[in-house]
Amino acid sequence: MQRLTLTPLTLLLASCSGPLPRATSRDEQPPAAVMPGPHRGSSEPARLHRNAACVDCHEEAAAQWSASLHRAAFTDPDFAAAYAHEPTRFCRGCHAPEAAPEHESPGAAAELGVACVTCHVPQGAALPSDGVLAAMTITTGERSAASEAAPHPIVRDPAFTTTAACAACHDFDHPHAPGVPMQSTVREHQRSPAAGDGCVGCHMRDPPRGPVHHGFAASRDHERLRAALEIHALRPEPARILISLRPRAIGHAFPTGDMFRQVLVEADATDEQGDPLAGDQRILGKIYQDRLAGSSRGRVLLEDTRLLPGAEAVVELDLSGAEALPVHWRVVYQRIDQEGPGRPARPFGEVLLAAGVLPPTEVGPQP
Ligand code: HEC
Ligand code: HEC
Ligand code: HEC
Ligand code: HEC
Ligand code: HEC
Repeated sequence: MQRLTLTPLTLLLASCSGPLPRATSRDEQPPAAVMPGPHRGSSEPARLHRNAACVDCHEEAAAQWSASLHRAAFTDPDFAAAYAHEPTRFCRGCHAPEAAPEHESPGAAAELGVACVTCHVPQGAALPSDGVLAAMTITTGERSAASEAAPHPIVRDPAFTTTAACAACHDFDHPHAPGVPMQSTVREHQRSPAAGDGCVGCHMRDPPRGPVHHGFAASRDHERLRAALEIHALRPEPARILISLRPRAIGHAFPTGDMFRQVLVEADATDEQGDPLAGDQRILGKIYQDRLAGSSRGRVLLEDTRLLPGAEAVVELDLSGAEALPVHWRVVYQRIDQEGPGRPARPFGEVLLAAGVLPPTEVGPQP
């Protein structure tokens, strides 16, 4: 059995929140100490029934959530393939937070994924009976109206729109290698120009003050993914190709999240028969090495070549041998398989971010 290693940030957030407040009225409570996170405590079948009730009353949020990766956190085929290699309690804690993590086939509760109750009724939070956690983002008048209209108490906490609501699941260390981040989205966010905004501003509201959306669109929305980077290719010398990648409004590294994602930057040239003559490529991603020492398994991060938040990267490719030929270049976002140490990465999901052809003599920016 593995235990989740809390990052310094989550520990800090937990320790800042102080003793649990007592519920006194229906609205405007002092901060609830517990924010959403991986499974804590025991599984409660009653939470499934409560979730079904949320879905019945809040149709719009429910429709958006139903189509989201949060809803599919345990059932989506990419997770299922990875989980088949490593069916551990550790994985279930975050991908099936409403199920009892000790069961390997956790059933209906797991199929809910990250549910309404996971975020709005965090396990262990001191909420009044039937109470839900909510944000303070609407005006005081609207808040009172909503509280009057709601058939359940609403506990408003400003922290619910900060990274605190996402950090316990979106930032954590490798279970076998404390200190080696498995996902570090919040730590990356903290070092980004968007550090002052929460995750919600970009992932739940578009524009930032627009209505709330529960689809949590990200890498499966190909248009959004393409729009996230500004990409240009140049051929300053016949055999030298420069591809510049500039993140637009991305609040963390690119790619972020799951460790098995990368950006492939490549260029090649073929002869008249279509046979390859020259080619070069770079990977922007996290490169790990598995360390096997006695019974203790571990992972070392060898290199992190991802795009840093707010910084432009220029990738240089060598096309020696293709000086007189057109060069085809492309930038591809890839999800790669997780079959483990020593195996070559095999992409199983790809999105073409940009591509083009650089003619032999011309010098200058390309679309
Ligand atoms: C019987 C219908 C019903 C059920 C069940 C219900 N809600 Fe509500 N809820 C409402 C109504 C009505 C309001 C007030 C109007 C509004 O804001 O939509 C409300 C308000 C809210 C708000 C505050 C919105 C704001 O003003 O910021 C949140 C958050 C919320 N509900 C979440 C939930 C969650 C999560 C569940 C399940 C645990 C749930 N609700 C169950 C009807 C319901
Ligand atoms: C991953 C966490 C997460 C999940 C899952 C989630 N919510 Fe929310 N929800 C939030 C956050 C955070 C906000 C506040 C966003 C803001 O105000 O900027 C919010 C806002 C709301 C609101 C008030 C805003 C509005 O749209 O009226 C309602 C109601 C609500 N959620 C209901 C639900 C229901 C019902 C479900 C399940 C179908 C659900 N939520 C699932 C995190 C979540
Ligand atoms: C209980 C744990 C948990 C919490 C809390 C949580 N998430 Fe997630 N989130 C997940 C998991 C697990 C997935 C991956 C689902 C999958 O693809 O299998 C995910 C997926 C996502 C994705 C989609 C990533 C993609 O590649 O498309 C986004 C965006 C996201 N979460 C944002 C948020 C934000 C913003 C918050 C805070 C308001 C939040 N999450 C809170 C567990 C959580
Ligand atoms: C300034 C806007 C912005 C902020 C703030 C932001 N993100 Fe993102 N996020 C993006 C963009 C843009 C992408 C890449 C395009 C896409 O996948 O939608 C992205 C992608 C992701 C992905 C998918 C993985 C990938 O590389 O495609 C996850 C998961 C995610 N963000 C989680 C978070 C979390 C958690 C936070 C808060 C710590 C956060 N984001 C803050 C804009 C933002
Ligand atoms: C502390 C919480 C946490 C734990 C533990 C965890 N994950 Fe995740 N996982 C996430 C979050 C959050 C995301 C969404 C980020 C993203 O999509 O890049 C995610 C995304 C993924 C994805 C990408 C899914 C997709 O649809 O693209 C795979 C695959 C995955 N996890 C497998 C696993 C496996 C296997 C384990 C156990 C060894 C595990 N995870 C343990 C939080 C967790």
